[in-house]
Amino acid sequence: MTASRKTFAIISHPDAGKTTLTEKVLLLGGGIRSAGTVKGKKTGKYATSDWMEIEKQRGISVTSSVMQLDYEGTQINILDTPGHQDFSEDTYRTLTAVDTAVMVIDSVKGIEAQTLKLFKVCRMRGIPILTFINKLDREGKEPLDLLEEIEETLDMETYPMNWPIGTGKRLKGIYSLSADNVEVFDENERRILPLSEADMLEDYEKETLEEETMLLQEAGNAFSAEKVKRGEMTPVFFGSALANFGVQSFLDHFVELAADPQPRKAEGEFIQPDSEQFSGFIFKIQANMNPNHRDRIAFLRVCSGSFERGMEVKLSRSNKKMKLNQSHSFFASDRETVDKAMPGDIVGLYDSGNFQVGDTLCTGQSLQYEEMPQFPPEKFAKVTAKNALKHKQYHKGMEQLVQEGTIQLYKTPYFEDYIIGAVGELQFQVFEYRMKNEYNVDIEFHHMTHELARWVVKGEIGDNMTDSRKMLVEDQQKRPVLLFENDFALRWFQDKHPDVTLATGWEVM
Ligand code: G4P
Repeated sequence: MTASRKTFAIISHPDAGKTTLTEKVLLLGGGIRSAGTVKGKKTGKYATSDWMEIEKQRGISVTSSVMQLDYEGTQINILDTPGHQDFSEDTYRTLTAVDTAVMVIDSVKGIEAQTLKLFKVCRMRGIPILTFINKLDREGKEPLDLLEEIEETLDMETYPMNWPIGTGKRLKGIYSLSADNVEVFDENERRILPLSEADMLEDYEKETLEEETMLLQEAGNAFSAEKVKRGEMTPVFFGSALANFGVQSFLDHFVELAADPQPRKAEGEFIQPDSEQFSGFIFKIQANMNPNHRDRIAFLRVCSGSFERGMEVKLSRSNKKMKLNQSHSFFASDRETVDKAMPGDIVGLYDSGNFQVGDTLCTGQSLQYEEMPQFPPEKFAKVTAKNALKHKQYHKGMEQLVQEGTIQLYKTPYFEDYIIGAVGELQFQVFEYRMKNEYNVDIEFHHMTHELARWVVKGEIGDNMTDSRKMLVEDQQKRPVLLFENDFALRWFQDKHPDVTLATGWEVM
């Protein structure tokens, strides 16, 4: 029997506990031998230079880009997303390759900015979202308040799968609403008792639990698998990733609740996973996964048919035929050759420079999966190579880093320099660092004062319509884009030229 697939990513604000939860989930699935090997320190807390060093040491979180574990007959694929907001574009692209998202919320802090941003992307994609409210071992917000916060801020119904009995130092356990039992908070062993036998609970704790669960039954939402599937209702789990408390029960339900591999849209049509034709798209390219070999791995989400090593496929963008001989799957710290993969699986393909993010690979009739979401950059800089003699390496580096989606590239007829765009400053720094380390090119930045990019979807832009505050450039696909210095300049332009329709990157898709 072939294992079913569940492919998901965790979204969270840095420090909410994404790494810890991933570690514990992998441990339960036997994916890694000991905790702490998933990745090094998270990026958020470090200064850039430290971050670079850390990324380097761990081969840019080689092992954690995609993780795979087998759990009771289901193959679970976990896709890592960078926590730092400067890399949110990477996260957005990764979300196109998953069927379910798990939202980790810190019970002390509630919903934070980054969660909200990423959550909106999930809502837009209509994918199911499971919520894990973490750090129950800390004195956090009231559980009912947390549910209300999710419902109000995220405009999504909640359905608690379990309910905490106390928090912080008074944490006694979690009560399963469906099974009427209590998982006792005990660091040494996992104990589950029927509520009637949970003698460690004081009377007042039982009373509070009764009151709260009654309130949930009366005023809470009725469970709807359909709503969960559409991303309109989120099942909520309480627990503590650090104490490995509630993680097993989360995983058990996850297997049930997470979506199976879903159809993906190509040229306006949904391609079903059970279609015979093999197809998939590349959502991420990672260079130097193995610093000794200077290799590049393209991550392919298999969408339909089946993948077999050595198969001949077509790259839709160029119609180029190629044989996929070098393919890998990833366990926490090992890379293994993969011979076969199914829809929902992620395959790492050795890339000698053929692929770019967003590419579709298929057999048979050509098809092209929808374009990758492009997040409108907010920072722009002109770049040049310090040493003009290095122009060959400079162009090569630029081309490859743009293919990987490290930064966005724009050109303008007004001057020769490239313009690069980024969502966050760290992207520029990573770009600079990698140009130097991988291509041996020192680059020079001239930060521009523009902060907004708008794609021109209707209307012509004449020379007299631009000036230093609004510059016309072209993106990689040669689409016209206007860069504005600020909101004011944008509004002024729109007032003056109502016949021109502008859109953010998202709307362009
Ligand atoms: P992230 O990937 O979302 O950024 O978060 P990560 O798992 O790295 O966790 C952030 C911090 O929160 C870590 O502490 C981690 O130990 C802690 N943490 C995670 N889950 C829980 C939990 O359930 N309860 C409590 N109390 N803490 C939790 P740190 O001190 O920043 O790092 P470390 O030195 O412990 O690794």
